[in-house]
Amino acid sequence: MPTTSFLPLPAILALAVLLAATPAKAADACDKHLKMTCTNCHPLKVACEQIGNHPNELKEILSRMRLNGAELSRSDIEAMATCMSQPSEAAKAACGK
Ligand code: HEC
Repeated sequence: MPTTSFLPLPAILALAVLLAATPAKAADACDKHLKMTCTNCHPLKVACEQIGNHPNELKEILSRMRLNGAELSRSDIEAMATCMSQPSEAAKAACGK
């Protein structure tokens, strides 16, 4: 055993706690809309298949959903395009990924 490790154990533990506590539950536009708005008209799966797609394509799809009757503001569409393309932890969680 080397006497000097790269990180002291307390630091590793603190990091582990931090990582475990971080994103998963951070709510964003995807958390709200994927679970509530998008499921009004079709199964969540239809929306979830677009996760990771390019933001511009997502904006097109989301704008079409607005024409279909989805209650999405322009800023909702921007926010959704961002969190779906990343995809955010909340988006992945909403889609069970
Ligand atoms: C008011 C009803 C309605 C709501 C709300 C709605 N959709 Fe749709 N969606 C549709 C209809 C109708 C279609 C099939 C026709 C079409 O593709 O436009 C569709 C199809 C889709 C498709 C498949 C078409 C493609 O090009 O891949 C995706 C993806 C999609 N919706 C995503 C979403 C997302 C994400 C949301 C939530 C932000 C959402 N939808 C909310 C009505 C809706």
